[in-house]
Amino acid sequence: MNLRICYTWVAVVLLLFGSVVALGSVPRVRSGLAIVRSKATGSLPDVTWMDLFRMVRSGAHFNLPELARMPNPYAMIRNPFNSPADVSVGSELFRSHCASCHGADGSGGPGGPSLPHRQMVRSSGDWALFRTVSLGVRGTTMPASNLPWLDKWRLVAYLRWLTLHGELLRDSEAASEVSAQPIRYE
Ligand code: HEC
Repeated sequence: MNLRICYTWVAVVLLLFGSVVALGSVPRVRSGLAIVRSKATGSLPDVTWMDLFRMVRSGAHFNLPELARMPNPYAMIRNPFNSPADVSVGSELFRSHCASCHGADGSGGPGGPSLPHRQMVRSSGDWALFRTVSLGVRGTTMPASNLPWLDKWRLVAYLRWLTLHGELLRDSEAASEVSAQPIRYE
């Protein structure tokens, strides 16, 4: 009797162990585990657990396997919400939430700088822009935003579109270098 319970336990443990090993060989699961490990060991301080959760849950392509390989969100995270529809929603959000300072087309106003030609102080990478929109800029009037997560990515899509547009207007050949340095917002 006792022996049978013992065997059952051994079987359960082996089965669990086997499943973990088997799952670990699925690339998606493996990169997921790698990201969780990076986050848990402090390599991804600027990406919250909630952000990671939402990136995974959104089902959109956030370059997570690449992020697992190189845990630098400023270099690795790309905004997947950048369709023309996203840009269009972003531009509406911009007009209702940002235009009072930056002007309706982002070209600047009394309260904020022009954005199309701006050499972003905090870098123009997608993740840096997302953080700027989310957290604002300390010590300035640029406010933090509590818009829904997806809307902030649409704003990033619009900001990208604006800067690209600005670049085209300036007829500049060289695309501005995106800095991949971690950025301090605090
Ligand atoms: C109350 C005025 C105000 C509002 C509203 C505002 N901003 Fe700003 N924004 C500023 C100011 C001022 C700066 C310049 C901050 C600095 O000196 O670095 C700025 C800077 C920025 C920058 C440049 C950051 C950099 O790295 O150089 C971006 C991008 C930006 N704002 C986007 C937005 C978006 C998107 C919204 C709407 C969700 C918004 N802003 C709403 C005032 C505002």
